Amino acid sequence: MSVAVVCPGSFDPITLGHLDVIRRAAARFDAVVVAVLENPRKQGLFSAEERIALIEAEVDDLAAVTVERFEGLLVDFCTARGIRLVCKGLRAVSDFEYELQMAQMNQRIGGVETLFMSTSPEHSYLSSSLVKEVARHGGSIEGTVPPRVAAALHAKLG
Ligand code: PNS
Repeated sequence: MSVAVVCPGSFDPITLGHLDVIRRAAARFDAVVVAVLENPRKQGLFSAEERIALIEAEVDDLAAVTVERFEGLLVDFCTARGIRLVCKGLRAVSDFEYELQMAQMNQRIGGVETLFMSTSPEHSYLSSSLVKEVARHGGSIEGTVPPRVAAALHAKLG
């Protein structure tokens, strides 16, 4: 039986922590769909197209991974593709409360189950927001995002 999983997120932009989870999911499932949220109510630094292009460049070597945009409910995205599993990285206890709420809601409204993958310890402090803040103020973001993403951040932020 072939098992597919969705790795959802804003990915604004993708970090090494996200990539670690996607790569580890790709090693354990037959197919991984990275679902990039386009939220009309929240303007990101990168457009959905830019975020998707940045992710695609990083997962180019992984045949099992595809990248798609989504709007609306995650469970609708999953159901439309016949996927019943979501995989999310958990960094710390502080992530858990909100992630658990979302997982329980997704289970209730769509019968979609969530598997939590512990992030690798070296990435547990990483978030897209922090990386953007550091980059915005000229700090070093080396080792937090792939070099192509760092270049895109520097180009965007000047
Ligand atoms: O990168 P993030 O912010 O952790 O990703 C959160 C995301 C995109 C997975 C979550 O906000 C989401 O699934 N949004 C889609 C809307 C939705 O389905 N909301 C109900 C979840 S209970």
